[in-house]
Amino acid sequence: MKLTLKIWRQKDAKSQGGFVEYDASDVNPEMSFLEMLDVVNERLIAHGEEPIAFDSDCREGICGMCGMVINGVAHGGIRGTTVCQLHMRHFRDGQTIIIEPWRARPFPVIKDLVVDRGAFDRIVQAGGFISVNTGGAPDANCIPVPKTSAEEAMDAAACIGCGACVAACKNASAMLFVAAKVSHLAILPQGKPERERRALNMVAKMDQEGFGNCTVTGSCEAVCPKEISLDFIARMNREFGRALFRDKAASSRGFKVLDSKGTADGSAEVRPKPLN
Ligand code: SF4
Ligand code: FES
Repeated sequence: MKLTLKIWRQKDAKSQGGFVEYDASDVNPEMSFLEMLDVVNERLIAHGEEPIAFDSDCREGICGMCGMVINGVAHGGIRGTTVCQLHMRHFRDGQTIIIEPWRARPFPVIKDLVVDRGAFDRIVQAGGFISVNTGGAPDANCIPVPKTSAEEAMDAAACIGCGACVAACKNASAMLFVAAKVSHLAILPQGKPERERRALNMVAKMDQEGFGNCTVTGSCEAVCPKEISLDFIARMNREFGRALFRDKAASSRGFKVLDSKGTADGSAEVRPKPLN
């Protein structure tokens, strides 16, 4: 296969980036997309040029490191597939492929196709854990978990934190990611004691990091390589609402319940106030 690549090159976070065109010849249709970029990079290095920077680790679709927008679609548009698992046979000989980094203010570009997704780590640090000594495997197995809960928690826990949901969203919303992290712990009995604190703190951190709100376009679910369902956003909203009314310390975390000004049914509208 012979391809024309238009790749976003950006020296560092402060420099202005732009598209640079490369010819990729002798591309094997069985190569993964990242292997194709490896070959392009080998040629660049051989010519004394700077290789294209991109993130990857496992290359098995499980770590969440890789991610780029290919022809306008996060991870390239093959359902349930990360870019490291995307194969060149899905492209046409002679095709032009446009490759860009995730575009979202909370994910600043570090170099070329590499963005800083530290905001996701900080959201998880705000509450995406269970702070008890879980003991050994026999202790964990002493707590019965209904099969349906285990299955649902596993569906949410499949999120690999790649950030495609944010990149695909016109609001740069991280709701699908946060919903997956809030839900997988809230569903399990081990995660229930801290469910209020977790939902409040993770949502507050999400807002503080500058992610937008969800307007339910579903673009996040469409590009998610782990096919995390929008239903988890509904679950997180329920968790958050429940936490707000049950947790007496909610106001001290900067949350307040405002009277609705625009809702027809007069129901209370809940708005988080960013934490300092
Ligand atoms: S919800 Fe899906 S798209 Fe978003 S970070 Fe998790 S795995 Fe990636
Ligand atoms: S490199 Fe690990 S998911 Fe793609």
